[in-house]
Amino acid sequence: MSIIYDPKDKTITLQTLNTTYQMEITPLNILRHLYYGRRIPAASQAALMPALDIGYTPNPYELRVERDFSRDIQPSEYSAANTGDFRVAALDARDARGRYGDDLRYAGHAITPGKYALEGLPCAGGDEDSCDTLSVTLRDAATGLEVELLYGVYEAEDVITRAARIRNGGEARVTLERAASMTLDMPYGDWQMIHFHGRHAMERQMERADLIHGLQSIGSSRGASSHHHNPFVILCDREAGEECGECLGVMPVYSGSHRTDVEVDQLGGVRVVSGISPELFSWTLEPGETFTAPEALLAFTHEGLGALSRRYHRFIRRHIIKSAWNRRPRPVLINNWEATYFDFDSDKLLEIARRAADMGVELLVLDDGWFGQRCDDNRALGDWTVNADKLRGGLDRLIERVNALGLRFGIWMEPEMVSEDSDLYRAHPDWALTVPGRRPTMGRNQLVLDMGREDVRSYLYDTIAALLSNHHIEYVKWDMNRSMTDIYSRILPPERQGEAGHRYMLGVYELLERLTDAFPEVLWEGCAGGGGRFDAGMLRYFPQIWLSDDTDALERLTIQHGSTYGYPVSTMGAHVSACPNHQTGRTVPLGTRAVVAMSGTFGYELDPARLTDAERAQVRDQIARFKGWYDLLQNGDYYRLTVPGADRCMAWEQVSADRSEALVSLVITHTVPNTRGVRLRLRGLDPEARYRLDALALEGCTAHSRCQLRPGQDIFSGAALMYAGVLLPQLYGDYPSAQLHFTRV
Ligand code: DGJ
Repeated sequence: MSIIYDPKDKTITLQTLNTTYQMEITPLNILRHLYYGRRIPAASQAALMPALDIGYTPNPYELRVERDFSRDIQPSEYSAANTGDFRVAALDARDARGRYGDDLRYAGHAITPGKYALEGLPCAGGDEDSCDTLSVTLRDAATGLEVELLYGVYEAEDVITRAARIRNGGEARVTLERAASMTLDMPYGDWQMIHFHGRHAMERQMERADLIHGLQSIGSSRGASSHHHNPFVILCDREAGEECGECLGVMPVYSGSHRTDVEVDQLGGVRVVSGISPELFSWTLEPGETFTAPEALLAFTHEGLGALSRRYHRFIRRHIIKSAWNRRPRPVLINNWEATYFDFDSDKLLEIARRAADMGVELLVLDDGWFGQRCDDNRALGDWTVNADKLRGGLDRLIERVNALGLRFGIWMEPEMVSEDSDLYRAHPDWALTVPGRRPTMGRNQLVLDMGREDVRSYLYDTIAALLSNHHIEYVKWDMNRSMTDIYSRILPPERQGEAGHRYMLGVYELLERLTDAFPEVLWEGCAGGGGRFDAGMLRYFPQIWLSDDTDALERLTIQHGSTYGYPVSTMGAHVSACPNHQTGRTVPLGTRAVVAMSGTFGYELDPARLTDAERAQVRDQIARFKGWYDLLQNGDYYRLTVPGADRCMAWEQVSADRSEALVSLVITHTVPNTRGVRLRLRGLDPEARYRLDALALEGCTAHSRCQLRPGQDIFSGAALMYAGVLLPQLYGDYPSAQLHFTRV
């Protein structure tokens, strides 16, 4: 059992292979956090906590005379407002009598094998072999409010999950103003924060910064986890790099408005509170009712950022994604969006499919524009019936002909949205989120359906289920193209309007749960204008998510780099698109575009008719290469070899679990004359083993710089590859690239 209760010291210790997490039930029954870090024996760490009487740090009533314990400086397992801890609170609650705050005291705990489930929310799965659960109940005697803290301990994975259930055990109505998933206090350490900010088509830009005293937060109030701040934060020590240093990740399993607060307190301690954003949020609990706060995934390592990322990658693949496609080779696809936008008909699509099939593509995705009167992005969302002018002969006729070419067929939808100019909106204007008496703020000239409504969800379930039952559709791209504003639900009373945003998310999850259960063979891809909802919550249902609307391979380098800190390559939708690129106007060689997209789910998003014969042959070769290395690329251990902005290149590597195979990919981001070429040092190999370079793909090689590497012949020791490295020739032109494949001999 990975959870140990010590009745003498009153500690509860969570042990994973390499980490230890410990809490203590203090003599006043306040649940105090003691330790989270590198694995140590389960003995109490209470002696690490100072017994201090500091001015203006208040004491619990029982300590009027002996004032050496204050909630304001002690680490807490779950912080609450108005009871002597002035740092950021996880719980802000007030009851109908106006009693604000909660004096939470320990009321009991239970340790059970297996993994808890969360009502209506996605969370990590796991059985008795992979996980144990700790549940600790805290209670406020005055109001009767109870908080059940949940911990899932994944021993082998070095991951601890957190969640909270808040139950009104009193007699008066309670309103929650904030109900975060977790508090984590770290009284020691000199931490920096890494987070992933961005914007549409430029998501997950990694930023690393010192912490300042006071509060710093990242989050979203857009109703989606957002392009702007991904729900993932890393704290790391100042010296931490890819291969060394302590680092700790907090990843909410949530796709709506979220917030992670990081506060440095008066003694230099760091508090992290993470969960649903308190902005525009409140939740009413009648006596007996329970609110469930989403899960967060915690991981700690002393072996650097690379090891932390690999821990999240493995965990997401093993315990978050539930789709059977998680472990299956996924088809190489072609998507018609950047090839045609709204301007297509069956003939054009079939021509794309025919040429794509000839190049080895396996799936055609019909993107936006196939339904209702959808000739541009101003209309028809909600009218999910085929546009017979574009698809003459109907959907089945098209699918049959696509299938006859040897391709599977997939389709785009944006179920959560409605256009004002649509039959659906004309029939049900009240289904959209709008504030009575106010003209709504528009985004892409469309409105958001109130997914908190049962009737909306049934309509969508029936519509999508009919589409999938009646037609041979094997892939669905589920898009969502605006931020949420005017959050007001016509079915909620005034005092519950603060619930509308989270009820929306619960509705989306319920619909996705039903649909993915009913159609488990469909490959579901998530999308929100690219990466606007790329998070662990969505990954429960979607084994892959379109990473960004920016398909420029050069920009993708930083977007993919930032995304790899938390998410595995197999979840990142990535396509080779046409050049000049539609987002940036940049031209990047076709070979380089493929190298970048291969470290994603890999597909094409261009009109093959516009490729030359030589380029078509190149694509054929890229697809063969990708399929040959599929398992290594998608499921291998991922190593970042460079940092954006440094070294004028970006390089990364995938290594098979048994270290018998490695693939290095590199793109030169800024070519300069007269260099030594790039010396690449690999990671993650067996230093004692010998590896043969058995494939070398170079884009941009010229006679000026002779390549001394001899694929098929060169054999290196693992130690030499990692510590001395290999030298690539100087590569020329704009954005040249290389791929090197090594096999243990
Ligand atoms: C946004 C997506 O990210 C694109 O790939 C495309 O599907 C468009 N929406 C279609 O409207």
